[in-house]
Amino acid sequence: TTVDLEDSDYQLGEYANFMHKEIREQPEAVRRTLAGRLDERFGTARLGGLNLDPRAMRGIRRVKFIGCGSAYYAGQIGANLVEEWARLPADAEPASELRYRNPVVEEDTLYVAVSQSGETADTLAAVQELCRKGGRVIGAVNSVGSAIARACGSGVFLHAGPEVSVASTKAYTNMVVCFAMLALSLGRVRDLSVSDGARIVEALQSLPDHITAVLSGENTISEVAKEHSNAERMFFVGRVRGWPVAREGAQKLKEISYVHAEAYQAGELKHGPLALIDPAMPSVVVVPDDELLAKNIATIEQIKARGGPVIAVTNAELPEGLADSLIRVPRGEPELDPILFTVPLQLFAYHLARHLGRDIDKPRNLAKSVTVE
Ligand code: G6P
Repeated sequence: TTVDLEDSDYQLGEYANFMHKEIREQPEAVRRTLAGRLDERFGTARLGGLNLDPRAMRGIRRVKFIGCGSAYYAGQIGANLVEEWARLPADAEPASELRYRNPVVEEDTLYVAVSQSGETADTLAAVQELCRKGGRVIGAVNSVGSAIARACGSGVFLHAGPEVSVASTKAYTNMVVCFAMLALSLGRVRDLSVSDGARIVEALQSLPDHITAVLSGENTISEVAKEHSNAERMFFVGRVRGWPVAREGAQKLKEISYVHAEAYQAGELKHGPLALIDPAMPSVVVVPDDELLAKNIATIEQIKARGGPVIAVTNAELPEGLADSLIRVPRGEPELDPILFTVPLQLFAYHLARHLGRDIDKPRNLAKSVTVE
């Protein structure tokens, strides 16, 4: 697939800033990255740039995602999908950690270097160290021709189009979509059935429309953000699939609004963080309608019992009055919930920062591409 870049990618047009433009471009960006890569007949995905034949794919025994910032959180979702669909052990690690450890590099591990810019110094150094030790490294990169893309040699391009805003949105989403395709193809050379594969292909195809539906609720999200715009600190809470979503939600908020946001796994709240809950500490709770719904409802009750306001992001029917504010998400296949649930959190952070009058595209102290160590 080739991508035609237009000048309009670098122009704001009707938008006040690039972050808003890039959030709104996500349905199109997802369509672009899916184009030509899904195989309905065999219920799988084809990522030609990986340069892995089916036998090599079957030989992979572990997958490790490395990246920095949002790319690392996206990798965490990728790892969950690989475990779920391919039943392979998988995890994500910040590249800045991996490069300074002395990592055990195994021949049958697939390392995925994740980067929007392809220029992040820590990620590049981690790739070089892994390659030097004979590790098999592929890139998941947005910028064609970038240093990380070149160092990896093979991989999957994100096709998000140029991302200008420091806070990553469409590139992040496309990372996760690409990992879903990677996990699907790894699953389908192993034990994932053709019918499950077909269900996932269909779910991926409906993602752009589902994201459009999330975007159509933007006014409500803006109101919720306004209601909470005087908060000085916030929790973001999720479990399992919802955990990387909470991390990315907190990341977005702190990056552009400067509100102190911390993410916690729901089950860990009672081991310390509950002590911080009071009426001045709202919690954004990620509540997908999956097998953990009852657990997440119990988490909300724990927070409410300590006087903490709750903003629930959900596609479930929650008991009346349980949450103080609701952000609704359309229902899709549960495994892809992390993608759909992240978009409203981008909008939440965006509108909260806007209500506070922040410089959204250029937050203080941050750079789009961190090429220094
Ligand atoms: C910077 C940006 C983040 C981004 C991270 C990784 O810190 O501010 O938005 O997630 O770098 O960037 P990369 O280009 O490697 O994805």
